[in-house]
Amino acid sequence: MLAGLLSKYLPVFKVDIACFYHSITETEISKENLKKISLRMTFTNQFPILKTCTYLNTAYSGILSEPLLNWRRTHDLNFFEHGSAFRLHQAEFLQEVKVALASFFKAEAARTFLVPNFSFGFNTFLGGLNASHRFLLLQEDYPSVNFAVTGRGFANECLPVDAHLEENILAKIKVFKPTVFAFSLVQYINGIKFDAVFLKKIKEQFPDLLIVADGTQFCGTERFDFEQSGLDVLIASGYKWMLGGYGNGFVFLKEEVASRLYQSGQQIAHPKEPFLKDKSLLSLYFEPGHQDTLAFGSLLQSVLMLENIGQDVIESTIKELTDQAKKAFTERGLLHPVVAERQNHSSIFSLNLPEKIYRKLTEAGIGCTFRGAGIRVSFHFYNTAQNLAHLLKVIDQNR
Ligand SMILES: Cc1ncc(COP(=O)(O)O)c(C=O)c1O
Repeated sequence: MLAGLLSKYLPVFKVDIACFYHSITETEISKENLKKISLRMTFTNQFPILKTCTYLNTAYSGILSEPLLNWRRTHDLNFFEHGSAFRLHQAEFLQEVKVALASFFKAEAARTFLVPNFSFGFNTFLGGLNASHRFLLLQEDYPSVNFAVTGRGFANECLPVDAHLEENILAKIKVFKPTVFAFSLVQYINGIKFDAVFLKKIKEQFPDLLIVADGTQFCGTERFDFEQSGLDVLIASGYKWMLGGYGNGFVFLKEEVASRLYQSGQQIAHPKEPFLKDKSLLSLYFEPGHQDTLAFGSLLQSVLMLENIGQDVIESTIKELTDQAKKAFTERGLLHPVVAERQNHSSIFSLNLPEKIYRKLTEAGIGCTFRGAGIRVSFHFYNTAQNLAHLLKVIDQNR
């Protein structure tokens, strides 16, 4: 399915490995390394910001590629030149976006919804639940997760994130008996990541508990099979690791939860207008009004790009760099012990360093974020061991 879409929309994104191999066949470099070097060269060409900046800030915002910039220009030129005619096929186009997303994350297109961002999707999901639900949350999780729940007055308890996170969650579920566990798959400040095996285990032990994940800091970093996962709901914004620009996000629902949402809406008469006749009940809630083909088209382009690079290449590149970074940060005592001790961490790190070092990093052209607890750096597939070395050098020189 994605292969068809790739050839239709993405001639511009072909990674020209073959040509690169051809020009240097007589070297000692292994084919595997060659492929990596070739990809790196392609990344710096496709994301020119990487030539001038050590970009370690994807946890804040993904970057825009040149092919995507060109696609967006063409899209708006079309609007400019054709007015309403350019929207004639928007319904089919948005459906293609859903199909591509569902295929990428192994979800069902019929239960995939396009939303402007995570917060909208999550609030809409909560609006479809009955008020008696009890939520288990995590302390210091992203405010759009926790506030959306507490602000609506749902009963809840918040668990601290410590070295025994997984055991604490299981113990808390037994005592508090929540009906929903809502959390970010990767915690936005310290980068602590939930393991897919653990999520499956909770679902097996507590099949009636709804497991609702915010994937904004996760989606786009690893292969993920939603239908096989322990999750009931996955919602994410597309502007970080998916590299889709702003104004797009997505919601995946498992069949059972979809049938339980907006039950009162089932009794209300649907709009009769012909242009709404094909919308499902849940689409009326999650996708009200006109949708932006620039925003969702950008997300489609990004999904095709990630698919073209290869999810396995992305995952292994991030893992390799994350392992190197974690070792170097641990040796320097820059990580919280809870993070240092975890086996499986994301590529987001909060470094225990003062604001004065943040200023030095910025002066040295390193993109990162200062948060009260330290300096947050994050590594995507387009980052390199040289980026890490540059970061460590500036830190070591200024401590
Ligand atoms: C964990 C997490 N979830 C969600 C978001 C973003 O949500 P939204 O795009 O709705 O503001 C962020 C942004 O920093 C985040 O770190």
